[in-house]
Amino acid sequence: MAELTNNGEIDLLLGRMKSAAAPMRGILQELHARYAPVTEGKVADYIPELAKADPNWFGISIVTADGQVFEAGDCLQSFTIQSVSKPFIYGLALEDLGLEPVLARVGVEPTGEAFNSIVLDEVSNRPFNPMVNAGAIATSDLIAGKDFPERVTRMLDMFGRYCGRKVHIDNSVFMSERLTGHRNRAIAHLMLNFGIVSPRLDEALELYFQQCSVLVTAHDLAMMAATLANGGVHPVTGERAIPQQYVKYLLSIMHSCGMYDYAGEWAFRVGIPAKSGVGGGILAVVPGQLGIGIFSPPLDAKGNSVRGVRVCKELSEKFGLHCFESGFTGRSIRDQFTVQRSGRQG
Ligand code: DON
Repeated sequence: MAELTNNGEIDLLLGRMKSAAAPMRGILQELHARYAPVTEGKVADYIPELAKADPNWFGISIVTADGQVFEAGDCLQSFTIQSVSKPFIYGLALEDLGLEPVLARVGVEPTGEAFNSIVLDEVSNRPFNPMVNAGAIATSDLIAGKDFPERVTRMLDMFGRYCGRKVHIDNSVFMSERLTGHRNRAIAHLMLNFGIVSPRLDEALELYFQQCSVLVTAHDLAMMAATLANGGVHPVTGERAIPQQYVKYLLSIMHSCGMYDYAGEWAFRVGIPAKSGVGGGILAVVPGQLGIGIFSPPLDAKGNSVRGVRVCKELSEKFGLHCFESGFTGRSIRDQFTVQRSGRQG
């Protein structure tokens, strides 16, 4: 067998998974069984609909960049995507306007502050990045369409391409977000004052509340992540969800800002570009290899799923998935599964 580069590792992962399916499922089932009894964390309750989530719901899904699926637990339980939507809306804005016009409105610097902090860059007046609410609302403002219904449809179609199925909005969550979203309105008005968002900011807010209310499952999150891992093409449908040149920007922003004010420690310890949401979802992307989707509603003090963070940490360590892992000395996927390279690799 030829000496493997990191890309060779990726090929091996993809080629080996068929025969490694049973061990991989076993590993996920073991992880699920070990973390299911964890009772730490608190289900989001800033709106009553989210507080209805069962703290025991727990699903772990992995989809490889060539579409193989490995799952354990509640991977088909629906929940609202919440902030996991933010990198994908950013991608749609990049597609609509191109990089520089988007950068003129929203920066790419981590804030180190909570996702709903009311803070803009003092010099440019831009929101710091598209993963905090200010940046996400400014990004929603950029989504193109001849009228509001068309903008909503484009947003839903975009999520549909990543999930490989039609997606829907949870109307009661949307209505509650909208009824209680005074802080987001305050942020939007501050940005209007500085000319960062257009005067149609009511639409931007509606779009933001709607994107947060899109219903997904852990399986969907893994498919979305696998689509990014696969350069923007859905691994099962073959449909392109985003032009390839923008994928690296989504992953970069997830890497530096995706996990709220835990983003730095996440990048350090886990090293996998990821985004979490207050619904309990975490989506993580190992470029060229696989997507991870985890759902477990109890959140830690920073707003990240407690079980989700622990499972991702363990997957990263076990399989050497940290993006700056060097050498893959003894703990990589390659060492977990001993099968032959498939013919399609070369
Ligand atoms: O903006 C809000 O209040 C919610 N929809 C929060 C979404 C979320 O997951 C937290 N954001 N980073």
